[in-house]
Amino acid sequence: MMDFAEQQPTILLVDDEEMVLNALRRVLASSEWALVTAESGAQALEIMARQPIALIVSDQRMPVMSGLELLNEVKKLYPDTVRIILTGYAEMDIVVKAINQGEVYRFFTKPWNNAELVETVRTVLRNWRENLDQLSSFADQLSRANLETVMALAEAVELKDPYTKGHCSRVRDYALQMALALNLSESFCRDLVYASLLHDCGKIGVSEVILNINGPLSDEQFREVQRHPVLGFEMTSKIDYLRPASIVIRQHHERWDGKGYPDRLKALEISLGGRIVAVADTFDAMTSSRPYRRALDFKIAIQELLDNRGSQFDPEIVDLFVSLLETKVEGSGTAQTRRRLLLVGVTFEKIAELENSLPSARYELIVADSLAAARILIKEVDMVICARQLSDGDGAGFLVDCRRLWPQVTRVMLIERKDMETLAESLNQAGLYAFMIHPLRPAEVLAMVENSFEWRRMAKALNFAE
Ligand SMILES: [Fe+2]
Repeated sequence: MMDFAEQQPTILLVDDEEMVLNALRRVLASSEWALVTAESGAQALEIMARQPIALIVSDQRMPVMSGLELLNEVKKLYPDTVRIILTGYAEMDIVVKAINQGEVYRFFTKPWNNAELVETVRTVLRNWRENLDQLSSFADQLSRANLETVMALAEAVELKDPYTKGHCSRVRDYALQMALALNLSESFCRDLVYASLLHDCGKIGVSEVILNINGPLSDEQFREVQRHPVLGFEMTSKIDYLRPASIVIRQHHERWDGKGYPDRLKALEISLGGRIVAVADTFDAMTSSRPYRRALDFKIAIQELLDNRGSQFDPEIVDLFVSLLETKVEGSGTAQTRRRLLLVGVTFEKIAELENSLPSARYELIVADSLAAARILIKEVDMVICARQLSDGDGAGFLVDCRRLWPQVTRVMLIERKDMETLAESLNQAGLYAFMIHPLRPAEVLAMVENSFEWRRMAKALNFAE
């Protein structure tokens, strides 16, 4: 994640008349922000492709591309940039329309009032900074670090009870599919991901001997196992970003008919997350093998859910889940698609090495030895790994273009150790997922590629992806 707070905002001034640009530059000179200027819409867009702009102030009347046309383009490409237009009285009506349509934040008529312009700019940038601060703390909360911590914890639970290997991530997948089908909010989905991964984390506090008993438990042993939702709740409710998830963790063994534990909640007293995870958890437990019984067939497990709709489970959630599973079973003929990786400017030996270490069933390597070739091939790929210098141009500039033109492609830059100082700049400008240092180590590439697609899949499900 970028450290937005460190960033000094930049204002871009656009006017075809040099005199006007000079006047604006004088009025807005300040140590609180940086100023850059452009003499046409095209030049302004070029600048914006290279560096983040917090605020753009453009004249309306310019040859070729008018101010409004420019701001409209800026709105599409860089929606976070605040847009201000300078206009003459004659064009007031079209400007007002643009403001109403959300294309422009404010307009100033020429000649503008200096004090008012400076005040507006200051307000805009204050809000911009607050937004970024919020965004960056929001991003922090969602960061890979959090997710990785949660996953590490989930794996620790699975280690205690080895027969549950993979259980947490499958419960997460089932739960998330239900939440997405129900059109639930981003924050709900995020909390549900945390909750489903951690639903059994309270088992860390339950004796391994009891957890690994094959077969029926005594009453006392059963009571011990039954403590895990409350233990899990106690662990997670103390962590800020896990508080909403902690409620679901506490409730995942409640039953629709009120005969569950620990709080004997009934029907809608149980949170929606709790009702969703209960179905996902039970279904996955039935369809995976345990030491004392074999996995049930999907169809039998589905029947089991249907038999318990309205007693153990929320009937609507069961119906939803069963319909999702049925579409999945029908569509299961299509194998998981192969990811396409475009290698740009990577040496032959490395390509051969990568070919050997990336499973070919899952990854297809596509090679380009020039940026010209890469530009043609990129439309078809999921990830690009690009060297910094190529015979026909600059890899970093190419990745900046990728971000704008093909944002769905995950971008990775390959750099020499000596180029480390340009790294920060490239990260900011090209929105890179990762950078890797020459020479490439295949095992690192494999780990990075797998992580990135896992992250992108989650991010996409939660709508954070670009
Ligand atoms: Fe559980």
